[in-house]
Amino acid sequence: MHDVAIRARGLSKSFGGTPVLTGVDLTVPAGSLLALLGPNGSGKTTTVRILTTLLAADGGTATVGGHDVARESVAVRRTIGLTAQQATVDDLLTGRENLELFGGLYHLGGRAARRRAGELLDRFDLSAAANRRVATYSGGMRRRLDLAASMVAAPRILFLDEPTTGLDPRSRAELWTVIRELLAAGTTILLTTQYLEEADQLADRIAVIDNGRVAADDTPAALKRQVGSERLALRLARAEDVPRAGAALSAGPGDAAGLRLDADAREVTLAGQGPDHLRRTLDVLHRAGIPVEHVDLRTPTLDDVFFELTAAA
Ligand SMILES: Nc1ncnc2c1ncn2[C@@H]1O[C@H](COP(=O)(O)OP(=O)(O)OP(=O)(O)O)[C@@H](O)[C@H]1O
Ligand SMILES: [Mg+2]
Repeated sequence: MHDVAIRARGLSKSFGGTPVLTGVDLTVPAGSLLALLGPNGSGKTTTVRILTTLLAADGGTATVGGHDVARESVAVRRTIGLTAQQATVDDLLTGRENLELFGGLYHLGGRAARRRAGELLDRFDLSAAANRRVATYSGGMRRRLDLAASMVAAPRILFLDEPTTGLDPRSRAELWTVIRELLAAGTTILLTTQYLEEADQLADRIAVIDNGRVAADDTPAALKRQVGSERLALRLARAEDVPRAGAALSAGPGDAAGLRLDADAREVTLAGQGPDHLRRTLDVLHRAGIPVEHVDLRTPTLDDVFFELTAAA
């Protein structure tokens, strides 16, 4: 049986007359992880705030754990945990004190709050630092404590708003492990991220949000397929050649479908279309006097997917 844990239909929201959400639809089956992927300002936090009852939508409906977010906010709040984008833990308290404080907020009672804090410190690998003030924690430790705080009441449904933004790769990987464990234990998770790799690593489904609506909603594999079977990547010898290469390929006889330029990486990528296309492409660059340093045919990344889905807007 596949219960739906989170369902949103046509959510809209404007701030001061500026539309931010213009009809967001989302469905998250119980026990799965949906990654809501989008650039800065695309409305991820706004969506999370509506689904966690912190903000009223202008239009549309949403249920979380079967409860309507507008009419049954108390029941929704009892069902969920939220790790907000801005840290919610207190720097001046220790990790343990923070978790006990949250226990109090959830009416756990002193002994139960202490026990729960101890369990979570263990689970999130913070026991050794439990009695240090949070001000002394690294970014990764803080994020783990944030996550632990949102788990105090053992919620079935968890909202994680950019849980790994700003973390180094190692801390990010540690947090991913914790998230996978929560998922394995049956928690439903809606996670927002700007990292395509993160969505690819963790998500059962990825919803790409752009211009206030969901531009694509599919499995990571299906999203990658949508962009075509392969990408042809050409690394040029000189960064200053990149714009010229783009112009030559667009004007040339070869097909420049899906052309993208990245001067920083000295890279020109386009949809791969087999050996003849590769030869024509290299010919065009050769005739333009643009040396190519490296040629690569690769399966599309989520970056490619994202670009494809949002570039036209
Ligand atoms: N309370 C508010 N008042 C006015 N504008 C707001 C408010 N909250 C959000 N916005 C605007 O709505 C848009 C979407 O913001 P939101 O925080 O949802 O984006 P986001 O996808 O979470 O971005 P980021 O990746 O930077 O966190 C932005 O243009 C933001 O400035
Ligand atoms: Mg945000």
